[in-house]
Amino acid sequence: MFSQLNVCLKPIKFVLHKTEWLWVFGMSSENDLISKISELKKDLNAVILAHNYQNPEVQDIADFVGDSLELSIKAMQSGSRVIVFAGVDFMAEQAAVLNENSVVLHPEPGARCPMASMISVDDVEMARRRYPRAPVVVYVNSPAVVKARADYIVTSANAVEVVKAIEAEQIIFGPDKHLADYISEKTGKVVIPIPEYGYCPVHTRFEYSTIKMLKSIYKDSVFIAHPECPRDIRGIADFVGSTSQMVKYVKSCKARCFLIGTEIGIIHRLMKERGDAAYIPASTSAICENMKKITLEKIYYSLKHGMYRVSVDSSIAYRVRKAIENTFNVLGFEVPWK
Ligand code: 13P
Ligand code: SF4
Repeated sequence: MFSQLNVCLKPIKFVLHKTEWLWVFGMSSENDLISKISELKKDLNAVILAHNYQNPEVQDIADFVGDSLELSIKAMQSGSRVIVFAGVDFMAEQAAVLNENSVVLHPEPGARCPMASMISVDDVEMARRRYPRAPVVVYVNSPAVVKARADYIVTSANAVEVVKAIEAEQIIFGPDKHLADYISEKTGKVVIPIPEYGYCPVHTRFEYSTIKMLKSIYKDSVFIAHPECPRDIRGIADFVGSTSQMVKYVKSCKARCFLIGTEIGIIHRLMKERGDAAYIPASTSAICENMKKITLEKIYYSLKHGMYRVSVDSSIAYRVRKAIENTFNVLGFEVPWK
C-alpha cells in the first residue's frame, strides 16, 4: 500500500526549509507537491482532515476543516481506507478509536497538545475515590487511556449541553480548569477540576488590558473567545464558543471587525468564510506551536510512506467508544456506528 523507504529516515529531524524539502522529494514547486499529495490521496483512497488551527496551506488541501467535534464525526463517517489527521496527537488518536478498520496517519507525532498530557489515569481514579457519586466527564483533549476511564467525553462545542443533561449536581471534569469553570458558570453545577491546574498554554496568553485597549481602538469590533480562556477574558467576550461555533457566529453576525480570542490559524478559515470582515488577533502570541508542526511536506511524506500510523489498544478503544455512546445517549442522539 505504501512505498517503503530504502534508507531509514526516521532519525532525521524535520529541520530543512521548504525549498530544501522540495529538493529532497525531487519536486520543483509547492504546486508540484500539492498535485503529488492529490495523486497519493486518490491512489490510497485517503482523506485529509484538518483542524481550524492548521497552517493555511494545510487547510486548503484538506477534504474537511473543522473543530474537534466535527472532525470526530467526519472520522466516524469517512469510510476511507486511510485518514491523514492534520491536528495534534489526541485528535489523531480519537480518529483511530473511531475507525478501527482504517489506517490513521499522524504526519508529525511530535505535534502534541500539552494540555492533554496534564491529566492522568491516577487523577481520574483519585477523584472517583474522593467523590464516588460524581460522574467523570473528560474533555476530548485527553489521552485515550484517560478517556477509557470516563463516563462521558465532551468537546468545547457540547460540554455545557452534556453536563446540563447529566443527572448529577456535582461533576468531575478534566483536564482544563478554565473550561471546567465555564461549564460550572453555564450550568450552575459544581464542577471539580482534575488536575487542579490543567490549562491550555495558548488560551492563557490573552491579556485583559490588551483586549480592553483593542476594544477602545476598534470601537465597533466584536470580541469572540474560546471557552479555554480564563474567566476574565471570557467575561469581556461578546461570544464564547468552540472554533466552529465561532465560524458560524461570524457568518451570522453583521459586524465587520472581529477581535479573535483563540489560536490565530482560525483567521484563515474566517477569511475564506467572510472575506468582507477584518480580523484582529487579541494576542499575537496566540499560536499553537504544536498545531503548526504539520506541514504539506510532512503530509506528503506521511501518505507516501504510511507514517506515522496511530493505533490504540482495542480494549481501550472499546471503553472510549462506550463513553462516547453514553454521551450521545444523554444528548438523545443516535450513535453513528450502530
Ligand atoms: P475546538 O474543539 O473548539 O476546535 O478546540 C480544540 C482545541 O484544541 C482548542 O484549543
Ligand atoms: Fe492543545 Fe491549546 Fe494547542 Fe488546543 S490550542 S491543541 S488545547 S495547546
